[in-house]
Amino acid sequence: MRIRLPGGRRAARLSGMDLPVVIDAGPVELRRWELPMAEEAAAAVVESLPEFKPFLPWATDGYDPASSRDFIEQSIESWGKGTEFNYAMYAKDGGLVGSIGLMTRMGPDVLEIGYWVRTSQTGRGYMTAAVEAITPVALAQPGIVRAAIRHDAMNGASAAVAIKCGFAEVARIPNDTNGTDVIRERRA
Ligand SMILES: CC(C)(COP(=O)(O)OP(=O)(O)OC[C@H]1O[C@@H](n2cnc3c(N)ncnc32)[C@H](O)[C@@H]1OP(=O)(O)O)[C@@H](O)C(=O)NCCC(=O)NCCS
Repeated sequence: MRIRLPGGRRAARLSGMDLPVVIDAGPVELRRWELPMAEEAAAAVVESLPEFKPFLPWATDGYDPASSRDFIEQSIESWGKGTEFNYAMYAKDGGLVGSIGLMTRMGPDVLEIGYWVRTSQTGRGYMTAAVEAITPVALAQPGIVRAAIRHDAMNGASAAVAIKCGFAEVARIPNDTNGTDVIRERRA
């Protein structure tokens, strides 16, 4: 199935049944977002606002548990529609450390990966492990031949994760903040 995006582009629409609810990613486990996770998610975002605000437009002062509940409700709805598949990341030996998701918005044959890790848990290899685990899942979906990561050219940590996971640069485009975004891809 396909859905139409603004501007006439078409995005893939995948059955939520095709995506696992839990993905083992070594030191972290990816779990489909559920509403009871909202408080912990908000605490993670609030602690990380100085690092998130330059790169994540939704990360703003005043972010609170209601913001997390909105995100989780939208995630549940998008999963059902087959347009986005968002997972909370839990350390195997602890609590919520981040988020990773697959989005269909770039087009019919590509799944875009978006992510964050709370500041107190960065630099431990968690996102590299999560991207390594979710990329084969993305590339196994029907009709998907590319996985993509889009990051600000100034975002060294995000670039490092993408490069470590074998995503090659394919384009540079202007972004909404007068900067440049880098698009990287890994193919099936
Ligand atoms: C990007 C992010 C998800 C990385 O998560 P993480 O769990 O720390 O990632 P990893 O530990 O797996 O790897 C991080 C790598 O970035 C490197 N790194 C960190 N800061 C860096 C910088 N400023 N410039 C270059 N490399 C950097 C680390 O050294 C590490 O590489 P190494 O293992 O080769 O040493 C996390 O920093 C984050 O959430 N940032 C804020 C939100 C964000 O930018 N999200 C992505 C939007 S596209």
